[in-house]
Amino acid sequence: MRKKLLLGNWKMNKTPREAKEFALASKEMVDYAIAHDIDVGVAPTYVCLQTVKENADPRLIVSAQNVNEHDHGAYTGEISIPMLQELGISWVILGHSERREYNGETSEACNAKIHALLAARMVPVYCCGESLETFEAGKTKAWVEEQIRVGLAGIAPEDAASVVIAYEPIWAIGTGKSATKEIAEDTIAFIRGILRDMFGDVADAMRILYGGSVKPGNIAEYMSEPDIDGALVGGASLALDSYRGLIEGLVK
Ligand code: PGA
Repeated sequence: MRKKLLLGNWKMNKTPREAKEFALASKEMVDYAIAHDIDVGVAPTYVCLQTVKENADPRLIVSAQNVNEHDHGAYTGEISIPMLQELGISWVILGHSERREYNGETSEACNAKIHALLAARMVPVYCCGESLETFEAGKTKAWVEEQIRVGLAGIAPEDAASVVIAYEPIWAIGTGKSATKEIAEDTIAFIRGILRDMFGDVADAMRILYGGSVKPGNIAEYMSEPDIDGALVGGASLALDSYRGLIEGLVK
């Protein structure tokens, strides 16, 4: 049985003061989620990681939104795994479509980062998903398969168990046009099939999230599907009330 997971992707939102306010007020919400056997977390910007980690319930997962695969060195503007570890951060989102689009992050680059994270016993949340053009051309599965096979190449099955996958169709991100639960399940079941081909039975233990305009009002629909294990949520994860609504939707 895979444990449900809600991860809020805060993107470039919240100052450290705002992030601290959320962290301080999140205790009761985290209690509620844990009582219902749901993992919950947020991914703040780098400058907010420490304050969220220090002020939130220790059971709130705090994830970075990116990392560099090198431990240290001449990589201006980058953040390393040991830096995150010193703050107690062990989760990192990789390959988000916004980073693929605006920062040239490729599946090959994500693969190097995933190897580095797994060597450090950390949890990569690897994102995949297709554009509207690819979706309309009926090429979603070929696109996503390439992203999964390249991003997870060379990973040992025993390490793969801790990798989280997020399927986020780009046309559904921040647009209000969420994929139907049938479309999400169809692609996510397909992804699980690829994972089974790559890692055998370990695929059944790997969590796959849906992301793209998930809201308190629609999250329960996705959870009724057998292969969808939770959600990666942007806009609706920012306000406490809405975040709490997402957890309530997961509990249903
Ligand atoms: P959204 O973003 O929930 O605002 O659509 C999801 C994401 O990009 O992770």
